[in-house]
Order: sequence, then structure tokens, then C-alpha cells
Amino acid sequence: MKDILTAPFVEEMKRATANMYRLGWDERNGGNISYLLKEEEVAEYLDLTHVIRTIPTGFDASKLIGKIFIVTGTGKYFKNVEVDPELNLGVIRIAEDGTTAELLWGYRDGGKFTSELPAHLMSHIVRLEKDPAHRVVMHTHPTYTLAMTHIHELDDKAFTHTIWEMCTECIVVFPDGIGVLPWMVCGNNEIGIATAKKMEEYRLVVWGLHGIYGAGKDMDETFGLIETVEKAAQLYMLICNRPHLNTIRDEELKEVAEAFGLTYRKDFLNL
Ligand code: 13P
Ligand code: ZN
Repeated sequence: MKDILTAPFVEEMKRATANMYRLGWDERNGGNISYLLKEEEVAEYLDLTHVIRTIPTGFDASKLIGKIFIVTGTGKYFKNVEVDPELNLGVIRIAEDGTTAELLWGYRDGGKFTSELPAHLMSHIVRLEKDPAHRVVMHTHPTYTLAMTHIHELDDKAFTHTIWEMCTECIVVFPDGIGVLPWMVCGNNEIGIATAKKMEEYRLVVWGLHGIYGAGKDMDETFGLIETVEKAAQLYMLICNRPHLNTIRDEELKEVAEAFGLTYRKDFLNL
């Protein structure tokens, strides 16, 4: 059995959390990541018959029975993941009942998975139905995206349109757009259900006055989606109270989308 601390999936979690912390997105315990692993890759590092303990999830994830995830721990700080992965991360498998997580590794201090597990697992279920290659759900509190939710209308079309307008490549990176939820209490099944509903249409979901969710087939793609929104939101916050001399017009957004052969949200342009 190989040492799990050398596993590529642990390394990826360390790198992602460290990057996000240093970008200033994940203060204190802010943010969480869940990453769907292949059973055969985990079996190289862990005895899959050895369950350390079981933890109820509080919701039905029957569609994920037997699936294994590496997940950040609740209350744990992203800045600490790279120095002590076994304390701050856990590898869990969804048990036969669909409502229990079997802990295979991690959460060494008796801790458990993120409080946002409902939004993560419900989003995984939806995104896997859309794309079997889907693997990662990431939640974070990027500064400018969050700032923008204080001053911008919280509507899918309006928010996406403003972000697309900020830089030419946004429509190329997320032609499917951005879903936006109003302020809601976090950490419960209700926000999980609302997030997953948006994930039926989008790989990006903004939580008003809280943060953002991204979903993708690997860590880079998911991080890249969020990073691109955040860059555009930063531009918006820099220019929103100045006169606009130039802008990318809707005809031009259409031209870019067509030049790249994209299936995009045509109804989000005013043409
Ligand atoms: P956790 O510490 O439970 O992951 O919560 C952090 C967070 O960002 C809640 O939305
Ligand atoms: Zn949060």
C-alpha cells in the first residue's frame, strides 16, 4: 500500500486550497472542495474494507452510493491543508443506505466533512448526469465576486451579461452562463437543493452576499471557471462608477461565441 500523503489527489487538494487561500478568497474556514475519486486510484493508498467510522449526512444521496470523495473538513482552514492534510481533509464513501458517509481516511481529530456537503453532493449528482467526466465541486468566497453581489442585480441573465461584457474570453470560458441565488442561510439542505437546481443549467452558481460554487471535470477546470468570474468581477468593481467609453457590444459577444463554435446562452444577449 502506497503512502496516501503522496497521492496525486491529496497533492491537488493541497495545491488548490493553498492557491485559494493566498488569493484571499478563503479567510478562516471559508470555502470547501469535494473531489470525486476513482475507486482504483484510492485502492492504491487505502484498504477500502477498513471504515474508520461512519458519519450521517442528513440527506439522501442514493445516486452516489459507493462513490468515494476527498472533502475538506468543516471548520478547517484552507491555509492549513498543505501542512496537515490528514487533519483537514477526509476521504469518504457514500454507504449502502445513501445517507451515511463511511470515513476511510482523515478528519484525524474526530472532525467531519464540510457543512456544505448537501450543496456539494447534490451538485455532483446533477453534474454527473450532464457530464460523466464531472469530478470537482468547489465553493469559495472570492472578494470581488462577493463585492459585486452587494451592488448588482441578482438575476442569472443580468449577472452573466455584466460578467461577459467585462472581458472578451468570459463567454468562451462559460458560454453556459452563471446561475445566481439570493441571500440564503448556508450549510443546510435547502441551499443545497437550490444550488443543485441551478447546476442543471450552469457550472457556476453565485450565492448572493456569500460566495460562489464551481463544478468541473478536474481541479484546473473548476478553479479556472471561478478565477475567470472573479477577474471579471474585479474589472466590474474597478469601472462600475466611471463613465464607460468602450464596451463589448452584444453583437460582438455573439461574434466571439460563433468564432469559437460555442453553444451559448443566446437568450442572455439582447439582440
Ligand atoms: P465549512 O467550514 O463547514 O466548510 O464552511 C465554510 C463555508 O464557506 C460555509 O459556506
Ligand atoms: Zn461559504
